Amino acid sequence: MGTKAYDPKSYWNQLVTGDGRLSNVGQSALGAYNNYAYRCRLKGLKKALEGMDLAGMKVFEAAFGEGFYLDYWHSQCVPVVAGIDISEAATGAAKAKFTQYDLRCGDLSCASDFANFGRFDVVTAIDVLYHIVTDEPWERALRNLLSMVDEEGVFIFSDKFPREGSYQRSPHVRRRSLSMWDRVLSDAGFSILKLIPVFVFMDDPIECGEHPWLGFLSMQQWRVGTKLLRVTRDFPRLQSILAFSYATIQCLPERIFLAMLKRTPNLELAVCSRFSTTTSQPRQPWRTLTGSDHPATGATQQPLGTSTDRESDGQGQTSEPFNNVLTELLSASAMARIAGAVPSLPGA
Ligand SMILES: C[S@@+](CC[C@H](N)C(=O)[O-])C[C@H]1O[C@@H](n2cnc3c(N)ncnc32)[C@H](O)[C@@H]1O
Repeated sequence: MGTKAYDPKSYWNQLVTGDGRLSNVGQSALGAYNNYAYRCRLKGLKKALEGMDLAGMKVFEAAFGEGFYLDYWHSQCVPVVAGIDISEAATGAAKAKFTQYDLRCGDLSCASDFANFGRFDVVTAIDVLYHIVTDEPWERALRNLLSMVDEEGVFIFSDKFPREGSYQRSPHVRRRSLSMWDRVLSDAGFSILKLIPVFVFMDDPIECGEHPWLGFLSMQQWRVGTKLLRVTRDFPRLQSILAFSYATIQCLPERIFLAMLKRTPNLELAVCSRFSTTTSQPRQPWRTLTGSDHPATGATQQPLGTSTDRESDGQGQTSEPFNNVLTELLSASAMARIAGAVPSLPGA
């Protein structure tokens, strides 16, 4: 697909106006549905940060947009927060709201826009790098961000990973496989420590990612559900009711599948750290930062960049979808997790 029509600066300046609406930075036609989806995104980020004490950390946020995660850093009393966004309006609004943070308007692929920021314990690039659709600036942006990560810090980014190569269905979104990401990451001395599924059904999936059958199923329900939201976009109250109903219907299957699967055909968060120069092993920032191993993954965690992990789920198990699902369904611990997954509110 051609990418000539997409001019990032004007596209994002028009869309991300700084009025705080999540539809500016999420699914623009789906109105209030974004509120539910963003709750899931935040859950994913919290999992990525599990075991870290944010109250003592320095965080750099690439593309803060309408400031959803700035609010989160603020709620967690993060003492030092900085960031860059290409939208002038978004930057103006964020600077006015968070006068204590170092927030600047700039382009992630432009090294000079990063001048004098310093280094950070946590660097995030959530839902932005796949909007840099040509590979050379994408790689530059990724390298710029990696250079901001402190020795013991982590880099967290999101994408929907095709199994191979890249995948582009619209002018402003280009999905890249793990091996494309891994090439730049490992060249800069980083590896992916873990992947966290964020959505299964509550965002548009890709059919060429992990579990393609599930990607197909998810895509069918997404088309039907979001069609109703799209046709009612001029009637915000009706759309809000439909958004609530759709998210409520999705909530239980979303939780069940997220509890069962280690990989998803939808959005995932990747947590990366530097390799130790002395041991050639990835650093485990949780150990360094909290004095204990990451609670969810344990002390023996392996980087996902190893060849066996590429064929599997990153934890040494095969990722054959039906095997996984059946094994999980039959295991007592999965049943317990599912039993605890009955929702009280959509996306909550
Ligand atoms: C989909 S929104 C996500 C915003 C925010 N990260 C979130 O998840 O709510 C994409 C954001 O990336 C910003 N952006 C896009 N391309 C950029 C670039 N090359 N440099 C800096 N920011 C960029 C846009 O202005 C927009 O705020």
